[in-house]
This record gives sequence, C-alpha cells and structure tokens, in this order.
Amino acid sequence: MSTATPRRTAPGRLLDLPGQTHVAEGPLDLNGMYMAHHAFRRDLARFAAAARNTPVEDTDVWRALGVRWTQFGSILHHHHTTEDDVLWPQLLDVADADGRATLEAMEAEHELIDPLLASCAAGFAAMASTPDAATRDRLADVTEQARDVLSDHMRHEETAALPLVQELLSAEGWERVEKAAGEGKGVRDLVFLVPWVADGLDSAQLQTAYRSVGQAFRVLLALTRGSYERRERVAFRYSAPRKASVTPTATLLD
Ligand SMILES: [Fe+2]
Repeated sequence: MSTATPRRTAPGRLLDLPGQTHVAEGPLDLNGMYMAHHAFRRDLARFAAAARNTPVEDTDVWRALGVRWTQFGSILHHHHTTEDDVLWPQLLDVADADGRATLEAMEAEHELIDPLLASCAAGFAAMASTPDAATRDRLADVTEQARDVLSDHMRHEETAALPLVQELLSAEGWERVEKAAGEGKGVRDLVFLVPWVADGLDSAQLQTAYRSVGQAFRVLLALTRGSYERRERVAFRYSAPRKASVTPTATLLD
C-alpha cells in the first residue's frame, strides 16, 4: 500500500449494534459490515429458536423457514466470499506476522462454518419436504451450533481483524470491498436485503445507516418493510417474542 494513498475522512459515527463486540475506530466507514454482522446474529438467534420450537406438523412455517434459510445462507456466503477474495488478500501483504495470523484465522474460521451451514440448509430443506421429529431435533442442535460458532467468529473479526482493516487498508481498498459486496444485486435481491439489514435498528441507528449507505436506502426501506415483516411473522411464528423491529414508517419518512 502506498503511503501517498489519500485516506477517507473519518465517518461521523460508527455503529455499535446489539451483539457487536467492538467498534474499530479509524478512517474507514465500516457500518455496512457492522449492519451485516448484526443481521447475521439476529437471524441465527431466530433460526435457532424456530428450529427448536416450531411444531413438526406446521408445514407452512417449515416451508417459510426453508425459503428464509436459503436467503440467509446466500447472503452469508457472499459476505464470506467477499472477505476471502477481496478483503483479507489486500491486507496479507502489508500486515506483520501477528496480523497475518489473524487474517489466516479469518479464512480458517470460514472453512469451519461452511459445513455447519450446509447441515442447517439440508435440515431446513428436509423439514420443508419430509418433516419428522428426529430431523427437527438434529436441526435444532446444529442451528444452535452454527449460531455459536459464527458468533465466536464475528467476535474475533470485530476485535482483531477489523482494527487491522482500519490501520492498513486504503480508502480505495475498502471501496473495492464495498463494490464487491454489492455486486450482482438486482431489484429482487434489494427488496429483501434492505428491510433485512434494517430489521432491529432503532431510529438513531437508521439515520447513521442512511448516511453510510445512501438516502435511497430510506426510500427502499419504506417501500419494502411491510411485506418483509409479513413474511417474517410466518417464518418465525414460534421464535421467541421479538422487540418491534424498525421504527414506524412515519419516522422513516422524516
Ligand atoms: Fe464480516
């Protein structure tokens, strides 16, 4: 990395969302990463509760959960692929030995997570087509395991790897990551992604998110949130009660 590379102006405020273990201060706006991590933690808690509590015979809910897991798995896979292909390689050449060990651990942890996600995907698909109690019990166990392993990984990433990103990556390097993260997203993807990533953020956090990801996000959220929440109520009918997710529509349009 050239020392002459211009650094982006420090963001006004970085998000510190529920479950997040560290805010890596620095010149780069990592809010997109923090919003994704929050959504992954929130989803895995919901999926673990749903797998444990949904009655075997409630076919509609298991079908909705099967669709919802596919959406979640595809976003998480794209997130990890972007990190492994575009983020960590940019840092490996400039990190010291300790930093390289952290970055290599990130990739190794992704490898540990992949088989757990595959087991969850197979379990949710099986429950949507040929449900039985033994499959449901195994699925509940593996979903809890996935929740815990991914939670440990995100803690490690937030406390050790993202500080390295702030220290070592140029603004151009981070823009490459954000561009790769957004690649291949059509309107249909955004109809799910926008309310999904906003789910659970309060009004102040949403205002920070709009500054980071653009005001178009506010308009898309107002348009998509209602149908997203209707589908969530079906899939997570038997999950633990949730707090009201995002702020009322009137506030979104302020
Ligand atoms: Fe990440």
